[in-house]
Amino acid sequence: MNIFKSHIIQMIAYVPPLEGRNPHHHLLLDFNERTRPVSEHVKQALINYISEDRLQVYPSYGDLTRKIADYAGINEPQVMITNGSDQGIDIIIRAACTEGDEIIIPVPTFAMYHQCARIAKLNVVEPEYTRETGFPVSALLDAITPKTRLIVIANPNNPSGTRIHRNDILTIARSAPDIALLVDECYFEYSQETVADAVMEYPNILITRTFSKTWGLPSIRLGYVISHPDNIRALLNIRGPYDVNQFAAVAISAALDHPEYTHQYVREVMEESKPLFEQFLDQQAIPYWPSSANFIWAFPDNPDVIEQHLRRHGILVRPRSDQSGHKGLRITLGDIAQTRQLVDRIQEGLSIAGAGMMKVPLPKK
Ligand SMILES: Cc1ncc(COP(=O)(O)O)c(C=O)c1O
Repeated sequence: MNIFKSHIIQMIAYVPPLEGRNPHHHLLLDFNERTRPVSEHVKQALINYISEDRLQVYPSYGDLTRKIADYAGINEPQVMITNGSDQGIDIIIRAACTEGDEIIIPVPTFAMYHQCARIAKLNVVEPEYTRETGFPVSALLDAITPKTRLIVIANPNNPSGTRIHRNDILTIARSAPDIALLVDECYFEYSQETVADAVMEYPNILITRTFSKTWGLPSIRLGYVISHPDNIRALLNIRGPYDVNQFAAVAISAALDHPEYTHQYVREVMEESKPLFEQFLDQQAIPYWPSSANFIWAFPDNPDVIEQHLRRHGILVRPRSDQSGHKGLRITLGDIAQTRQLVDRIQEGLSIAGAGMMKVPLPKK
């Protein structure tokens, strides 16, 4: 006899390949993380917190939510902090959907949406992104039925990096005012694309964001949801009072006091590393998806040879197949020196593979 629901027992856990990664031995370009450590301000704030002997006390968040609201340019009642944006995604799905409901998730995309949908026993409808046409806005609108309770879009999307135009998001929100629209803005600082200013006009929009990526703090887990205050009040009924740990609160508060450290890194990645890498891919005629994030999904002829060559030289990237099973590499971009190193190693890998000889020219962007 099983003590748990049968669909939970039959699920497969989401276990990303994280073990053995070491930022001191590897150049980590496989999880879209920041490739440089956090600032001394953040480290010192954590050291002070431990030295002040406060670990035995439950978390209290002080003015953290207000600071985040100020940073995001919204009002405090429009924000809920979460244990990473994964928790925001989970809470929104639990709040909006009941077993048997339909959820629309354009694919390929980030795995957690499907994981949470499976836990809630939802029927997943999957319009497809393509490299040529990007976000499937009309297929998504056509997929809406009376059973749809939630639409999930990542802007920009992971793994494709696809940017979703603000007008498309607002068109969807307008077309389905009684359906929750989760807009995952995990990579917002890189894309600079947001609908945070529209949540009062469109109360069905719920945005998730994180301090894991640009801010370089995935280890301590802090995300936040931006939405209409009525939605935030409802979501707070699900989030536990201590789900966000105090280290996260202390570190993010210190990081927000010195945002230039983060902004400078974003500028280097987006204005130096990314153009360099795109230029290299273009020269080599290696196809890739246009990306507005800090990573690029590229499809060299011999992805396994390239991946192994990079790995042998301490550079980790993420193999990821597209919907037709064609294997590509999702590659995070770090600072400019790291990107030069990446380009040199891929170049070597291409000669080893004898690749780069029989390429199909890229369609014009
Ligand atoms: C699109 C997207 N959303 C959410 C997350 C999860 O972020 P967090 O660390 O805040 O849970 C990721 C992480 O890779 C992601 O790519």
